[in-house]
Amino acid sequence: MSAGPPPHELRVVAGPAELAVAAADEWRARALAAAPSGRFSVALAGGRTPQPLHALLADPREPYRDALPWALTHVFFGDERSVPPDDPASNYGAARDALLSRVPLPPGNVHRIRGEDDAGAAARAYEEELRRVLGPAARLDLVLLGLGADGHTASLFPGSPALEERTRLVAAPFVPSLGARRITLTLPALSAAARVVFLVSGAEKADALRRVLAGAAELPAARVRPREGAALFLADRAAAAIDPG
Ligand code: 6PG
Repeated sequence: MSAGPPPHELRVVAGPAELAVAAADEWRARALAAAPSGRFSVALAGGRTPQPLHALLADPREPYRDALPWALTHVFFGDERSVPPDDPASNYGAARDALLSRVPLPPGNVHRIRGEDDAGAAARAYEEELRRVLGPAARLDLVLLGLGADGHTASLFPGSPALEERTRLVAAPFVPSLGARRITLTLPALSAAARVVFLVSGAEKADALRRVLAGAAELPAARVRPREGAALFLADRAAAAIDPG
């Protein structure tokens, strides 16, 4: 019996700037393909890797800002820290400053996770909003994810009980390595997406990326298995452990 399509596709680019362009091209392709339906939904990745992408999408001199259907775009988040939106650690705050405040998104189309609230309550509220906006299956058109050096993605960390969640779309696990709770999309939510794109940059991610692509099931990122097609891993040469030449 065939093993079925590979769960992961790797595309290597030179460096962080090229990674941002490749991700922006994916965003634009998915947004324009979804536009006839009247809605494009995207979940942003947290952390530092997406920052060049956010700047590129917001830059009016680049071929993205004015080409994208912002009026019908709904922005969600893959995860959030348990902090208020103006905290420097807030994924929403970083995206608001670099992108969301710089493009013509209708204010009601930004669906942040309320990190300032009790994490459990914030997770339940966010799940309700996902289902209200996207329908019961909460199928996102595009999910952008980062990769931690330990193989975590969103706020799904190795050994987390949240990895065993099979029905809820959002969980609020305590993360021992951080000593804090996080709010995160679960594997069912991530795998329900029409398209999942990982953004991986830097030599410190090379070991995790290699192990994820080899299918190391103990790594959360390896367990993101979109129903349709393979998860795309966009990696720069440093993360793909290819000699920069
Ligand atoms: C977060 C992210 C997390 C991030 C990875 C990679 O809230 O931090 O969701 O999963 O994507 O930790 O982070 P960097 O891009 O900063 O390396």
